[in-house]
Amino acid sequence: MPSDNLREFIEGLARKAGQHARQTRERNALVTQYKQGQELVTQADVEVDEMIRAAILARFPDHAILSEELSPDLSLAGLEGPLWVVDPIDGTVNYAYGHSQSAVSIAYLESGVAKAGVVYNPFSEELFAAEAGHGATLNGRPVHCREPESLRMSLVATGFPYHKDSISELCQRLEAVLQHCRDLRRLGSAALDICWVACGRLDAYYETVSPWDLAAARLIALEAGASCGHFGRVPPGFSEALYSEHVLITAPGIYQPLREILAQTV
Ligand code: IPD
Ligand code: CA
Ligand code: CA
Repeated sequence: MPSDNLREFIEGLARKAGQHARQTRERNALVTQYKQGQELVTQADVEVDEMIRAAILARFPDHAILSEELSPDLSLAGLEGPLWVVDPIDGTVNYAYGHSQSAVSIAYLESGVAKAGVVYNPFSEELFAAEAGHGATLNGRPVHCREPESLRMSLVATGFPYHKDSISELCQRLEAVLQHCRDLRRLGSAALDICWVACGRLDAYYETVSPWDLAAARLIALEAGASCGHFGRVPPGFSEALYSEHVLITAPGIYQPLREILAQTV
């Protein structure tokens, strides 16, 4: 696929989808409900997913799509062929509460390897984009991660799942990290957390999430010079780009020390 066309397509799609999310909220037209008992979802999450799906299939009818609302079939992550991975709105709780930290995330992969990714925040009008081998940009300008002088001087972000079963383990992990870093942030959008590592607004991010939270932003971080891996084991046969347990993404100099601390909590 010619890369200029691909980039133009994904960026245009993310902007259009983001505008729909923003306008729906500005019109006070949010309809909220719950999935799996406790997880907040709005009608806009589903509409944006439909919009992105229709545009991808109109252009690439034989491509597969893994998306949070309409096709959250995790077995798709193992596909060899072309795969799109979509989070229609990452940061839904922020979105529903009127906060501005939420984004549309779209990634394109071949054989489990990310080729292009876009994360667009329609509230700040910031569009993070990357293509494999071509660097990462924020609104068209190249971005690079920071070079913190030490883990002790680093700002670290994380998040928490909707279900509460693992809260005590996560609090122990949080305490271990907080002992060794400057401070922690819980901003509410994993995709933006990772893009913020890419552009130097954060030094590190760790969490267990889902493939759609990660796919586009991880490529953006990699292309911005971040170290991207896991603080637990990635089982054989899983794509590094989509394996979303124990994700760790950092400015390069602090990856190993932070990984050692986190690995002791798994
Ligand atoms: C959530 C956000 C949040 C993270 C959760 C995700 P959603 O995604 O990325 O920051 O902590 O684990 O599920 O539900 O808003 O798309
Ligand atoms: Ca998400
Ligand atoms: Ca979502």
